[in-house]
Amino acid sequence: MPGSALERGRGEHILIAEDDPGAGRVLRLLLEQTGYRVTLAADGETALRILDEQGAPDLLLLDWMLPGVSGLEICHSARSRWDALRLPILMVTAKTDPESVYAAFDAGASDYVGKPFRGAELRARIGAHLRTRRLWEERERMEGHLRERDKLFTLGLLAGGVAHDLNNPLAVISAHAQVLKRRLPEGEAREQVDGILGSVDRCTRIVAELLNFARRHPAERGPVDVAMVVRETLGMRERQISTSGIDLRVEVDDGLSPIHADGHQLQQVFLNVIVNAEHALAQGGRTLRVRTVRVEEPVPSVVVEFWNDGPPIPPDVLPHIFDPLFTTKQEEGTGLGLFICRRIVREHGGWLDVRSDAEGTAFAVRLPMGGI
Ligand SMILES: Nc1ncnc2c1ncn2[C@@H]1O[C@H](COP(=O)(O)OP(=O)(O)OP(=O)(O)O)[C@@H](O)[C@H]1O
Ligand SMILES: [Mg+2]
Repeated sequence: MPGSALERGRGEHILIAEDDPGAGRVLRLLLEQTGYRVTLAADGETALRILDEQGAPDLLLLDWMLPGVSGLEICHSARSRWDALRLPILMVTAKTDPESVYAAFDAGASDYVGKPFRGAELRARIGAHLRTRRLWEERERMEGHLRERDKLFTLGLLAGGVAHDLNNPLAVISAHAQVLKRRLPEGEAREQVDGILGSVDRCTRIVAELLNFARRHPAERGPVDVAMVVRETLGMRERQISTSGIDLRVEVDDGLSPIHADGHQLQQVFLNVIVNAEHALAQGGRTLRVRTVRVEEPVPSVVVEFWNDGPPIPPDVLPHIFDPLFTTKQEEGTGLGLFICRRIVREHGGWLDVRSDAEGTAFAVRLPMGGI
């Protein structure tokens, strides 16, 4: 959708390399007022260091004549790392002879503005490049979703097949172990058989979850009142929550407009996250806060946040909690909960994120209003 040439920025990050303090100030002011985040480097080395340390900004604005490393060299170096869709590069320079213009484009510049420039023109050009970049970003995101979906579809089929074939041998192991247990006198050997039975039980639950996951019905999407699904899911856990002495705080906005989603799948997500929070609170803390927030960026979405003040997730555990079969709950957990939750949320075009610190742990389910 083409926006106005002078539309506002959306907080994109622009790195400017400009050695003239006056010109740098003007550029910074102009772009910050337009709604961009600006970093100003006063020479070429600083600009290169920022690129090395922080990676690509959303747009690079280069003055050609800089002390030390020139704007053209920065352009070369940046373009060898990031293509023109990922990183638009604008050269702003007094060198407006045709050779210089060609040299800039040869070095990978996306655009070229002669000094002195008109503020409105520079803004319009930057706006146009960033609009193209946003479209590219959106396409990357969609392709990422599709790749993920394909991968998970194959994984689902595979997991379903394997899980199905494991059912029978597991039943046989379990039956034999039970017979063995009955025949053994009290003692160490019998405890070992109990160990076998415990593990078989865990495998059986993993298999059941995997089959459930593989056989999942195609999503049935329709208008869903997220607040209502949250309340219903909390209702399902009401008894456990109150008998565990958990202080439940619900800050749910009942006036949210419906989203396009599969209500049952969302319920599955909320349930998993709530039960995880209950488990965490059994180890310490007492508060579970559930709230909804409407956010507009990058797309209008509802965020449902589940926060508890239980013990934080250790930093070495945190990166793994969404991995399939990862659990810290030994026998009781299958470790498929969050893996499936994230998959469902992603299929809705959303995100499932976690944040954990000394205060507590928050899972945020972000669901776009439009759905996908
Ligand atoms: N609210 C939370 N606070 C602390 N740790 C958590 C929280 N939620 C999840 N975790 C950690 O993430 C791990 C993975 O969670 P996940 O829901 O995927 O599996 P699980 O709860 O262990 O097993 P399952 O959900 O299959 O019963 C948990 O074992 C736990 O270590
Ligand atoms: Mg769980």
